[in-house]
Amino acid sequence: MKAIILAGGNGSRLYPLTQVSSKQLQAVFDKPMIYYPITVLIAAGIREICLISTPQDLPRFQQLLGDGRRWGINLEYREQARPEGIAQAFLIAEDFINGDSVVLMLGDNIFSGSDDFPRAICQLQRGATIFAYHVSDPERYGVVEFDRHGRALSLEEKPENPKSGFAVPGIYIYDAQVVEIARALKPSQRGELEITEVNLEYMRRNQLRVHRLSRGFAWLDAGTSTALQEASAYIEAIERRQGIKIGCPEEAALVRRFISIEQFEALLSTMPNCEYRSYLATVAAEARRLGG
Ligand code: TTP
Repeated sequence: MKAIILAGGNGSRLYPLTQVSSKQLQAVFDKPMIYYPITVLIAAGIREICLISTPQDLPRFQQLLGDGRRWGINLEYREQARPEGIAQAFLIAEDFINGDSVVLMLGDNIFSGSDDFPRAICQLQRGATIFAYHVSDPERYGVVEFDRHGRALSLEEKPENPKSGFAVPGIYIYDAQVVEIARALKPSQRGELEITEVNLEYMRRNQLRVHRLSRGFAWLDAGTSTALQEASAYIEAIERRQGIKIGCPEEAALVRRFISIEQFEALLSTMPNCEYRSYLATVAAEARRLGG
């Protein structure tokens, strides 16, 4: 399984913050936003990741994340010249996907809690899996209706009268058919290759499964200033209360054994003295105590 993180777009709702820095490089409490999706993917056991962004922003991501080796992963980069839709990711990264199955993750979606993603990734055999998350305002999202076996019954983008209370968050799992499906798409009225059209095609093929996210799960998106502020406050509250951090790629890489405790400690020694480093030092001490 490979993964694509889509971190381009206009970020127009975050203007003027996004005039000189991409949305996905903004801070969510104590880390850049992009750390959160990367951590989710590492925690799900994915080592091959392709990040797609705009020509202006891509060098910044490369500067921040490098080739991924220090986290035991392989990070590749591709440009999206214009924001022509989420489903364009499969065409841009076709050579990266190279006939494999792939997770697509939006760079401004923040998740916390439970092992739903690793489980869903392990369970995928053929077709696609999307996730369902109960929200109070489904009309603002893609809304999915599904039966008790997790079969998708309907999928609608921002419906006036939602058929369920379940929104579809920005993480999707596809088998290798996705490239051929994306290639057949036509731009929508707003000129984009729509991810909902990809999912509808899987539904028509009777191959779209819906994985309902468990109750304790948090899904936050950070597309507006208010949402960004709320996401920061949420992360801060959990981190303070529990004395843990959410969205640390180093920690996820250690837990997944993508890097050894020695590599983890060497990485720590390159960081300036800061809260982030102190936290990782406690993680290292605990890992040593438990035997590496
Ligand atoms: P959106 O939040 O829908 O769009 P945006 O980021 O351009 O923001 P705004 O509406 O404020 O202008 O995009 C969701 C995610 O998908 C976000 O992480 C950006 C990414 N994206 C791309 O990388 N390329 C695209 O062509 C589109 C449509 C989105």
